[in-house]
Amino acid sequence: MGSKEESQIRDLALAPEGRRKIDWAAAHMPLLNTLRERFEKDVPFRGLKIGICLHLEAKTAYLAEVIQAGGAEVTVAASNPLSTQDDVVAALVDKGIYAFARHGADDAEYGAHLRALLDRHPDALIDDGGDLVGTLHRERPEQLPEIIGGCEETTTGILRLRALEREGALAFPMIAVNDAYCKYLFDNRYGTGQSVWDGIMRTTNLVVAGKTAVVVGYGWCGKGVAMRAKGLGARVVVCEVNPIKAIEAIMDGFAVMPLVEASREADFVITVTGNRGVVGKEAVAEMKDGAVLCNAGHFDVEIDKEALGEAGPPREVRRNVQEYRQRDGRRLYLLAEGRLVNLAAGDGHPVEVMDMTFALQALSLRRIVEQGRQWEPRVYPVPEDIDREVAKLRLATLGVRIDRLTEQQERYLRSWNLE
Ligand SMILES: NC(=O)c1ccc[n+]([C@@H]2O[C@H](COP(=O)([O-])OP(=O)(O)OC[C@H]3O[C@@H](n4cnc5c(N)ncnc54)[C@H](O)[C@@H]3O)[C@@H](O)[C@H]2O)c1
Repeated sequence: MGSKEESQIRDLALAPEGRRKIDWAAAHMPLLNTLRERFEKDVPFRGLKIGICLHLEAKTAYLAEVIQAGGAEVTVAASNPLSTQDDVVAALVDKGIYAFARHGADDAEYGAHLRALLDRHPDALIDDGGDLVGTLHRERPEQLPEIIGGCEETTTGILRLRALEREGALAFPMIAVNDAYCKYLFDNRYGTGQSVWDGIMRTTNLVVAGKTAVVVGYGWCGKGVAMRAKGLGARVVVCEVNPIKAIEAIMDGFAVMPLVEASREADFVITVTGNRGVVGKEAVAEMKDGAVLCNAGHFDVEIDKEALGEAGPPREVRRNVQEYRQRDGRRLYLLAEGRLVNLAAGDGHPVEVMDMTFALQALSLRRIVEQGRQWEPRVYPVPEDIDREVAKLRLATLGVRIDRLTEQQERYLRSWNLE
């Protein structure tokens, strides 16, 4: 059976709108276009089944098509049902890609979709957040030897892979794409920075200038969110648990204080920690009437919805905005049910940023299928030559040239004996 009969999606008739979205993204992804040409020539994935579990929107869809162009049979499932765009998924199925994803799928359907992807017996994987690799290790031990290896997109997924590795349970090599310079310096920082505020603004239609934005977590994503909040005219307060990151935030010009104190002043609270229960009862008790809360960390566990909803269930007051009334009458607003606000209430990162990230994914996947069988089952960094190649390709597409080390300078930098 082909992809149209086997896939589980909302409606194939949505494909033309999805195709327009993918075409727009593809037109702004010169790195992936270069790789597509290479893959069409070299066919590095010939005869292989590739399973992809990512946020299913236009840019990811184009990555799936580039891998298909390299000879793979591609199957996609969603890494988050709220970020799935049904029209984009339909367009993929129309192109012969197998898809198991529906916007708004509940937990049971989400799990069933991951299993349906695994039923297609992929040879290699791309995962985002670790749910696919986790399901495989928990539920399908017999399938583990079939997998050559894979790539993981995000910070949270890499934490889970490292936990598997520590227990000696990781069954195949995985490349930690998130930890490449060309990923976190641009995607986590500039991508999350821009798209989180895009998501908040399009969802609430509220002004940012003159307000207090509390950013919880000052990692690569948090830095971007704080930087763009400042640019929009907000007063920014950072909350951290890591003293070094806290100093970094201070030196970057932000106020730093514990979350409970910051909550009293917050107009916006944005969590980006990758941790759970970060905004809990104590912080909720301090928040002002009208405060807007949202999350940009991978899972919807950073804002404690039970603590928010102690006085009763929320009501939807605007698309993707839930009002939680507190016992004393204060109204607190949660965006996108606490899921990643930039993806669940927006289009995710800007296209050009994802062009770099997905070029890393495509090249890392190629490396894994070509060499992964000889590698130990461990978590590997993106090979340095791939990171540099992506940076060079990006500079070339920008038309920017840079200087080169002279031979003398290279020798100088390599030597210890400077006589
Ligand atoms: N929204 C997106 O599109 C997007 C993109 C990339 C990554 N992510 C996700 O965002 C999250 C953060 O990623 P990152 O790359 O910035 O990670 P990171 O590890 O660089 O930063 C996380 C920061 O949160 C801090 N932190 C942890 N627990 C805390 C707590 N209770 N209170 C305050 N601070 C706390 C840590 O000290 C750290 O500085 C991850 O879940 C990642 O998967 C989301």
